Amino acid sequence: MSVEDSAVTPRHFAYLGDRTRPEDPFLAALRADAEKEGIPAISIGPAQASFLQILLRAIGARTVIEVGTLAGYSAIAMARALPPDGILHTIEISPKHAAFAEERIRRSEVAGRIVVHLGDAKRILATLPDGAADAIFLDADKAGYPEYLEHGLRLLRPRGLVLVDNAFAFGELFAETPKDRETPAVRRFNEIMAAETRLQSVIVPLGDGCWVGVKL
Ligand code: SAH
Ligand code: DHB
Ligand code: MG
Repeated sequence: MSVEDSAVTPRHFAYLGDRTRPEDPFLAALRADAEKEGIPAISIGPAQASFLQILLRAIGARTVIEVGTLAGYSAIAMARALPPDGILHTIEISPKHAAFAEERIRRSEVAGRIVVHLGDAKRILATLPDGAADAIFLDADKAGYPEYLEHGLRLLRPRGLVLVDNAFAFGELFAETPKDRETPAVRRFNEIMAAETRLQSVIVPLGDGCWVGVKL
């Protein structure tokens, strides 16, 4: 048996979760209040948030682009890993989600590091400058991922990071008759990532599977 055959069970996830920097009261309240407002409970979890922060701190990221703000959970988490003059551009198509996120961001200690862009990521990404981003986090409509990836490769500096949520397709990656209509799009995108020679990438099995790619 190679170490790569080691079985990761729900117990392992609970174990590593208990050994990860916990969710602070501000983000816990954001998560709970968003759900009360009818916003889908699909924010990243604390272990994945910590992982993204570790990556951003390790590369000394100053400029980050996020596609899919939702309630602002991942945006605030990532902005906390940036220096005081860092900037995180986050893009959201839903006015309701963007309004909730903006209100929370305003009340957060990283308000000065986050810009919320309301609109379709396909339009907004095209307005951002080439080669200026240290990392891009994709977490919006899965059918859009291939186009967001192309933008990401243009927007990132060499050795910048491509981070992509939901590689495990909401737990349906291997389902014979998936219920989520986005599952086929995730499967197609995973093949694109695996074949992408401009990146070195791996799926990290945290949360619902998180692609980490470095621009070569
Ligand atoms: N990153 C967030 C979760 C994002 S959920 C977190 O972890 O906290 C996905 C979000 O993408 C939803 O709010 C949805 O409205 C948004 N979205 C979907 N299609 C989009 C598009 N074309 N452009 C921008 N945002 C989009
Ligand atoms: C869904 C979307 C996400 O980005 C996620 O992390 C979990 C679930 C969804 O559309 O169901
Ligand atoms: Mg997601």
